[in-house]
Amino acid sequence: MDARPNSPEARDISYHLHGYTNARKHEEAGPLVIEKGDGIYVEDLAGNRYIEAMAGLWSVAVGFSEKRLVDAAVRQMSKLPYYHDFGSKSHSPLIDLAEKLVQMAPVSMSKAYFTNSGSEANDTAMKMIWYRSNALGQPARKKIISRNRGYHGVTIAAASLTGLPNNHISFDLPIANVLHTSTPHHWREALPGESEKQFSSRLADDLEKLILAEGPETIAAFFGEPIMGAGGVIVPPAGYWEKIQAVLSKYDILLVADEVICGFGRTGEMFGSQTFGIRPDIMVLSKQISSSYLPISALLINEKMFEPIADESNRIGTFGHGFTGGGHPVAAAVAFENLKLIEERDLVGNARTVGAHLQKRLRNLASHPLVGEVRGVGLIAAVELVGDQASKAPWETAGALGGLVNGFMQQNGVISRNMGDALAFCPPLIITEPQVDQVVDAFERSLEAAVKQVGPET
Ligand SMILES: Cc1ncc(COP(=O)(O)O)c(C=O)c1O
Repeated sequence: MDARPNSPEARDISYHLHGYTNARKHEEAGPLVIEKGDGIYVEDLAGNRYIEAMAGLWSVAVGFSEKRLVDAAVRQMSKLPYYHDFGSKSHSPLIDLAEKLVQMAPVSMSKAYFTNSGSEANDTAMKMIWYRSNALGQPARKKIISRNRGYHGVTIAAASLTGLPNNHISFDLPIANVLHTSTPHHWREALPGESEKQFSSRLADDLEKLILAEGPETIAAFFGEPIMGAGGVIVPPAGYWEKIQAVLSKYDILLVADEVICGFGRTGEMFGSQTFGIRPDIMVLSKQISSSYLPISALLINEKMFEPIADESNRIGTFGHGFTGGGHPVAAAVAFENLKLIEERDLVGNARTVGAHLQKRLRNLASHPLVGEVRGVGLIAAVELVGDQASKAPWETAGALGGLVNGFMQQNGVISRNMGDALAFCPPLIITEPQVDQVVDAFERSLEAAVKQVGPET
């Protein structure tokens, strides 16, 4: 890091509080300042180039230098830089995007609603669900179930849905009415000898027990990511979603698919819901919707949601919810162009074929002494690192090995991310097989460097 007092790094330390960062350690270590990007690469201030193997935050599908998105932004910015959708106002980019999303949905959806982040979208989903329960004359139906290790964002409602300790501790969360059920992680959570299907049945039983204990008439909805992302890229075991959905429909509980990471091709299908046979009432979309060139998110809601909400807004006089920046014209125009690019270039097909190559190369490392589990689908994967393969115990403390290997990855020219000891891979959907090879080669070198540090017994 450039330690001069007026360097960008020093000014970052002086003036900027970072998200998801240890603020005291940051004062010592300083930031990695990324200055530019092209394709799957980003470059720091010193001119070091990295493969961005996390696509930023799981989001830059089309890569970091897509001129068509820049042009779409400039065109819209010149024509109508801002408008909104309050009080029946609308604008063409929002209408185009709403129509496109409803048509793309894998199940019948009625309307799109626009927000600015995944967290806001989940918050909005929760409010819509409560509003609907009141509209239907079921005011007791307010509880929401999500999962331990699920990630739904950081606003008060979304962080409550999130099932990760760091999002709750010292924030006085979760709020009331949010319940958490078991994590669908077979490798870590299954009983000895329990098959994936048996494990899925047990988790569906856990869910049913929770519903019965709370009173089915009090449970409004279940939130889940098709694949858990920030919780460590946890791929559901065989039969999981089918069995969970059977329980939900038995008690008439709504299903929200948080497609913020899986949506728009990540799993090798347009939506994770297709990969896992999920039939949601609400889909939450963000990130790859615009390749995160601009912030935008959306909810798709079905008729079961829309009809009572429309009636209630009529009874009250308005649907009292909306964001100044919701469906921002420039963000909507960029998102629309981005979705056209994903379709034209068949990036979903690329996620399938190049993703299969990524999964195969990573699985070849399964017997490495520091590797506990390799998991993933399409262009999303994680390798969970362990200090001891037999007991699945971490090296030193939980997350220490993940952090070590993640550091070596950066030295080897690849930006990855460790969630505890799970090292994640989620590259731009434009990545090629030779580029995947570069990522996995760097990972192999990083593992070897870690072996040297971890000690001879491994
Ligand atoms: C599945 C999922 N839902 C919601 C969010 C929250 O999105 P945001 O950070 O845009 O608020 C994320 C962010 O990573 C996510 O992965």
